[in-house]
Amino acid sequence: MEILDSERVIPRCRHFGPCGGCALQDLNYSAQVESKSKILSSVLEEQLGKGLLPPLQISSMEDPWGHRSKMEFTFGQDADRVTLGLHQRASFQRIVDIAQCEIAPPQMSELLRAIKEVAGNFPLKSYNPKTHQGFWRYAVIRASRHTGELMLVLMTNEGPREPVESMAQLLSRAVPALKSIYWGITAKVSDVAHPDRLDLLFGSQFLEDRVGSVRYAFGPSNFIQPNHALVGKVYESIRKNAALTGREAVYDLYCGMGLISLYLAGSAERVYGVESEQENVASAERNAAMNGISNALFLCGRVEELLKGRALFKVGPPPDLIVLDPPRAGLHKDVVGPLLGARAPRLVYLSCNPVSLGRDLKVLLERDPSYQIEFIQMFDFFPHTVHQEVLVLLTRG
Ligand SMILES: C[S@@+](CC[C@H](N)C(=O)[O-])C[C@H]1O[C@@H](n2cnc3c(N)ncnc32)[C@H](O)[C@@H]1O
Repeated sequence: MEILDSERVIPRCRHFGPCGGCALQDLNYSAQVESKSKILSSVLEEQLGKGLLPPLQISSMEDPWGHRSKMEFTFGQDADRVTLGLHQRASFQRIVDIAQCEIAPPQMSELLRAIKEVAGNFPLKSYNPKTHQGFWRYAVIRASRHTGELMLVLMTNEGPREPVESMAQLLSRAVPALKSIYWGITAKVSDVAHPDRLDLLFGSQFLEDRVGSVRYAFGPSNFIQPNHALVGKVYESIRKNAALTGREAVYDLYCGMGLISLYLAGSAERVYGVESEQENVASAERNAAMNGISNALFLCGRVEELLKGRALFKVGPPPDLIVLDPPRAGLHKDVVGPLLGARAPRLVYLSCNPVSLGRDLKVLLERDPSYQIEFIQMFDFFPHTVHQEVLVLLTRG
């Protein structure tokens, strides 16, 4: 990526450079968005050719700081001192000790500093990914944008309960925004912050937030969108561009906690959400009840399994709109056939990975040329990083 001198700025974050969290902070914000939109266009053009793409709509942030709703910090060890931060750029083992993270809300940084201070009180070391010895592993912090409240999952290796309980007590007193603390235990060798067991140590089981008029509660295992400042704009763009009239059957595949389903429920006849993780499905059902929404049904299972023989689309009326929001890898190869077989008038594809998006769009358009790309919008969900969220609407001619 070519950077002009006039586009360079002094990075706001003192950890910029070594920290692997943000790669673009030395570029002014409008140049970041411009360069990401160019990358997106070129990735999609490479797969699809120029003629098929409508002009790219761009939605960036008014204030591109302090926006993250979830951060995963990793513990490290510097001689006798416990450190906590993000992976060093291009390193799986080295941790940059962070005092203040500029993309996280300020109360998350306050909690980050408090955790480090308190961890220093115990004669326990951080987990070492080379030796697999040590206790402290991750601090996963989620924030409610609406209330400013925080949920912490303190993740450790197998070990004693007492220091974690005592840490929870000290942190709950030190950081007023902290309303929920879980202990997550993982003995996994791989570097993923997914606990094998979770135990509520302090405060509420869930935090509450809202998107538009939809209220929802989330727990420590739920998928939450990383940028709550923009997520309402994404959902509203889906609602508006899908031109719902209140009579449609909408299938929301890879629905997480069901937020797109719940957002669209008031504009459709029925919504059907599909999600592989039982805890997300349970939250989707709880969130529907919380909002008095009775026309949403959530199914637990893998999309590629539930689509076999198009069984999923026999649960209700044939789909008028199918929303796809898969993980980074994109659609499973077995999804495409039954998806196209449903001949839905509209497909919406929401993606955090332009490469898998381009690949999937190419397959969809080649296998059913009666679809065309009507609309593409890029949302700058991840300012100062190379990542982005993309919304594509396909209509069937
Ligand atoms: C990007 S998130 C979706 C978020 C949701 N649409 C929202 O806006 O909050 C992708 C979701 O797909 C789920 N998932 C991953 N693989 C799946 C599969 N094969 N079938 C169904 N769900 C899957 C994940 O658990 C995750 O909740």
